[in-house]
Amino acid sequence: MTHKSRAIRIDRQGGPEELKLVEVEVGEPGPGEIRVRHHAVGLNFIDVYQRNGLYPFPMPLQLGMEAAGVVEAVGEGVTHLAAGDRVAYASQPPGAYCELRVMPARCVCRLPDAISFETGAAMMLKGLTAQYLLRKTLPAEGLQAGDFVLFHAAAGGVGLIACQWAKALGLQLIGTAGSDAKCELALAHGAAHCINYSRENFAERVRQITGGQGVKVVYDSVGKDTFEGSLNCLRPFGLLASFGNGSGLVPPVNIGQLGAKGSLYITRPTLFTHIATRESTQAMADDLFGVVRSGAVKIPVEQRYRLADVQQAHRDLEARKTTGCTVLTLD
Ligand SMILES: NC(=O)c1ccc[n+]([C@@H]2O[C@H](COP(=O)([O-])OP(=O)(O)OC[C@H]3O[C@@H](n4cnc5c(N)ncnc54)[C@H](OP(=O)(O)O)[C@@H]3O)[C@@H](O)[C@H]2O)c1
Repeated sequence: MTHKSRAIRIDRQGGPEELKLVEVEVGEPGPGEIRVRHHAVGLNFIDVYQRNGLYPFPMPLQLGMEAAGVVEAVGEGVTHLAAGDRVAYASQPPGAYCELRVMPARCVCRLPDAISFETGAAMMLKGLTAQYLLRKTLPAEGLQAGDFVLFHAAAGGVGLIACQWAKALGLQLIGTAGSDAKCELALAHGAAHCINYSRENFAERVRQITGGQGVKVVYDSVGKDTFEGSLNCLRPFGLLASFGNGSGLVPPVNIGQLGAKGSLYITRPTLFTHIATRESTQAMADDLFGVVRSGAVKIPVEQRYRLADVQQAHRDLEARKTTGCTVLTLD
């Protein structure tokens, strides 16, 4: 038996105009799969890379990596979920931009009753990313309360979650953002300082703020435009976690400069290594659910677009017009 669903698909990689609203047939889940009816869908910058070709995929492609909803049916061998469960996920393969889908169950987590579908859809990919960055992507000597870290694009989706979580951990997060209004937002979410990097040299400001010492970790999702400056913000033995390419890919690195700048470390992590197993996904999700339920981290849904208006959502995200998290609604 099949069911109909609206979905967003691209037939070739390109601009937002390639995002097409289509009707698809959805079947029964196979072994290890579930069928889930979405209540809300999360928008992420990775959706832009998959749409524009920075991350190549076979075509046609139904986009979307994050959503929340209710399980309708489970396939053979799925034991951690049952029909009727409220769930949320960040997961490969893409395909979350729809009402109904069949997908692997492995990365799908039961959503605590206290957390709404909209919050669940907004927080899984971005919140699990903040989790593995602040809790697992650390310098050799770890991070202690009072330590400085630098977090670029601090008013964005991952950024506003990281500001709050860093504060809860006792860290002094120095944010960067592209306007004064965005800096205000990052400060209101727990950043200790925020630098408007569209008009200030952020590396110089970081040196001032840290009394010339530099920070132990830079979390950099901006990529090409900030890479060099980020290295200049680090203390000896500091760590650059380069986790995104908002401004373009980081060019090939001259490894010798890491020695010259103080025996630095660089890592290029991705969430999908961290959520490669059911156990690691659930452990990270439990940590995230904990800080959301305690109120230490509030998921900032700042924009909502109807699924049919996804082209505008992509335009706004790429044009740096959004702040915090963005949700696609299915009404
Ligand atoms: N590796 C991973 O595991 C992983 C997981 C999740 C997300 N990410 C990455 O983390 C970043 C944040 O993701 P998100 O979904 O939360 O997006 P977002 O932060 O809400 O949006 C991206 C932000 O990047 C900043 N930016 C700087 N230069 C830009 C440029 N040339 N074009 C567009 N934006 C630019 C903008 O903020 P300002 O205007 O303030 O500069 C923009 O709002 C993305 O790069 C994403 O790919 C990586």
